[in-house]
Amino acid sequence: MKKKINIGMIGTKFMGKAHSHAIKDVSMFFDLDVEPVMMTLCGTAPDLPDLAKKYGWENWTSNWMDVINDPKIDAVVILTPGFLHKDMVIAAAEKGKHIMCEKPLANSYSEAKEMFEIAEKNKIIHMTSFVYRKIPAINLAKKLIDEGKLGEIYHFRALYQQDWAADSDWVWRFDQKQAGSGSMSDKGSHIIDLARYLVGDITEVVADSKIYLNEKRVPKTEEMREVTTDDACMFITRFANGAMGLFETSRISTGHKNYLSFEINGSKGSVRFNLERLNELSVYLKDEDPSIQGFRTVMMTDPCHQYMSNMWPAGHVIGWEHGFIFEYYEFFKGISENKNPNPSFEDGLKAQAIIEAVIKSVAEKSWVSIQKQF
Ligand SMILES: NC(=O)c1ccc[n+]([C@@H]2O[C@H](COP(=O)([O-])OP(=O)(O)OC[C@H]3O[C@@H](n4cnc5c(N)ncnc54)[C@H](O)[C@@H]3O)[C@@H](O)[C@H]2O)c1
Repeated sequence: MKKKINIGMIGTKFMGKAHSHAIKDVSMFFDLDVEPVMMTLCGTAPDLPDLAKKYGWENWTSNWMDVINDPKIDAVVILTPGFLHKDMVIAAAEKGKHIMCEKPLANSYSEAKEMFEIAEKNKIIHMTSFVYRKIPAINLAKKLIDEGKLGEIYHFRALYQQDWAADSDWVWRFDQKQAGSGSMSDKGSHIIDLARYLVGDITEVVADSKIYLNEKRVPKTEEMREVTTDDACMFITRFANGAMGLFETSRISTGHKNYLSFEINGSKGSVRFNLERLNELSVYLKDEDPSIQGFRTVMMTDPCHQYMSNMWPAGHVIGWEHGFIFEYYEFFKGISENKNPNPSFEDGLKAQAIIEAVIKSVAEKSWVSIQKQF
């Protein structure tokens, strides 16, 4: 019989739904060595009991310490605003529970360091939910880079644009104390992580950011509240391997709903990716016959691509939510093999060092080196 892994999840809203769906469905696609059990859902929503039932959880609680203190719970999933991550991670790690924590791992480098260290000390399995690493097209980009097919990497260029903040009422993401930073850490943490994953360590940054919409209406009131996190950020980086990086994040890019895109140019070829077409990777290889040369669109649904032999027959596309299923496959594999999956808290911590350098660079209007030691 498979070992049961009893799970407690803190956070029920956007990510609560995405993660619940993934945990529920992961065993449908993958043969796991453990059996995930959706034991307790925790959140602050008034309809929590209904949500728990709808998502497939056995129990619910509005007190997150109930999840931590429950000796039956083996793994905790943390899907709350950033300012709550540290206390929840530390409490769960001290009880020896495995942890999946949403990105950005924390609201500061020092918080993330404490979280990483306590997770290591308690020998738990830990994962930061940089879910886009698990998209098959991004895995193909990594494979091409690692096999040298793109040659020496010259440029990494990434955009993460959304427009939800242009018209929204006040939410926690507008408050620096709760969110740490704005579009830069919320969206930027994803493309920073992809840059590290695909190209390697970043050594220096120079950045600028701006708040365009200085106040927001508190929902269902006439009260206007100050916005203290950036609406947009642009930064340039240097990588340890000599590549240059160009990053842009925005939550007020009118018309863009979830446009995460990147292009990587190397001495032998290039790749292009756009999350809104996540079943495709654009590939250009210099050594091809010049008469048919050009960017080709590789459809990612064939079984040769990562995870796809467990999905549908070729040509039957996957969606945004499947990234979370792949992430949970890795998380549960990590638990059964007692080996940290990637991206772990270490990746969350390394991304945090870059986020902190970007914030410093904006404040100082100068280049900042990533000096933190790991
Ligand atoms: N990986 C991704 O693609 C992705 C996408 C969106 C958000 N996120 C991250 O996920 C996290 C949550 O974001 P979201 O969009 O789901 O936010 P959200 O506002 O939709 O949900 C926040 C949840 O936290 C819960 N919560 C808040 N305070 C709590 C407390 N004291 N005790 C228990 N529960 C509490 C709320 O009940 C709510 O369910 C953030 O870290 C965010 O950066 C990641």
